[in-house]
Amino acid sequence: MSAHKPLSIATINFKGGVGKTTVTWCLGVVLQEYRNTYTLMFDLDAQMSLTETIDLNQRKSEYGIILEDGRLKYIDPYIVNRARAIKEQNTLYHALKQYSIGSNQGILDLLNYGVFRIQKRLYFVPSTEELYWAEFEIGQRHKGFISDLMDELSHHPSMPKFGVALFDCPPSFSVLSYSVLLYCDIILVPVNPDMFASRGVGIFLSALKRRIAPDPLPKVVVFMNKTKTYDSMPTSESRAYMRDGDRLCRRLREEESIDVWFLSHAYIPDRAAIKRSLPSGSFPKELEQPFIRLWNSLLEIANG
Ligand SMILES: Nc1ncnc2c1ncn2[C@@H]1O[C@H](COP(=O)(O)OP(=O)(O)OP(=O)(O)O)[C@@H](O)[C@H]1O
Ligand SMILES: [Mg+2]
Repeated sequence: MSAHKPLSIATINFKGGVGKTTVTWCLGVVLQEYRNTYTLMFDLDAQMSLTETIDLNQRKSEYGIILEDGRLKYIDPYIVNRARAIKEQNTLYHALKQYSIGSNQGILDLLNYGVFRIQKRLYFVPSTEELYWAEFEIGQRHKGFISDLMDELSHHPSMPKFGVALFDCPPSFSVLSYSVLLYCDIILVPVNPDMFASRGVGIFLSALKRRIAPDPLPKVVVFMNKTKTYDSMPTSESRAYMRDGDRLCRRLREEESIDVWFLSHAYIPDRAAIKRSLPSGSFPKELEQPFIRLWNSLLEIANG
């Protein structure tokens, strides 16, 4: 058992483009800026959207020196450490691969060299594209990987005491998402205001439940992202989709015994400024209140 378990939240929806990566990023920044919480953020998606954007916004300078053979050697510490971690295979993929043959050494190497402090209280574990092939090479049944990784982390001398762990999951079922589902406290599902959202979430949650049975699904929280607003309030169309979402969650609770909640009051509006937040490594001030409301609702459900 871990000495200290951070509140762990996996952002998942099998529908692409709903805002999983953006919401994970914004929550990480809100937690460290407004809640003084040490947060560990994982990119588990082989598409590497979060990783590639963080790699860009962490690059403090293009400063490098030209070697005799004409190659450019970067001396920016983030770039150097990232490049070293990849070269020396201190990545999630290699940790998982070693774990699959019974060794925790890969997890220790990842914790020593492959976790990056990207803001004062925000730490990051990048993805690698090799995760695409993990299913074929490693197989699906490595249930304990994330739990053992987090356990090692809680004892690691150079890691802070994380209050929260956020996992940005791919829009498909992967060996890593399986392991995260068994570990996390909350599955966070962003949906967009469109007519397929409720149906899609119903199918996806029933499938997840069957997929990890006999293990139970953790609590599930569904909320609307990219909510259309008028005069700072959801439009009547967005409200209608929220009611659909709420009805769906009630049905899933009653008929499928899934512990799922729809957040009718903690939605994230559709705002162009959010598109610039991740690429610039920042957070749009105008979305501070919606994200704080989202966080408070998550805490209430986690503790309730
Ligand atoms: N609240 C919002 N308002 C406006 N645009 C948004 C909002 N949330 C996300 N977006 C935009 O929607 C697009 C998709 O977002 P994102 O990449 O976070 O989705 P995703 O679910 O992680 O996608 P994938 O399934 O490919 O991993 C991005 O261009 C992002 O900037
Ligand atoms: Mg994504």
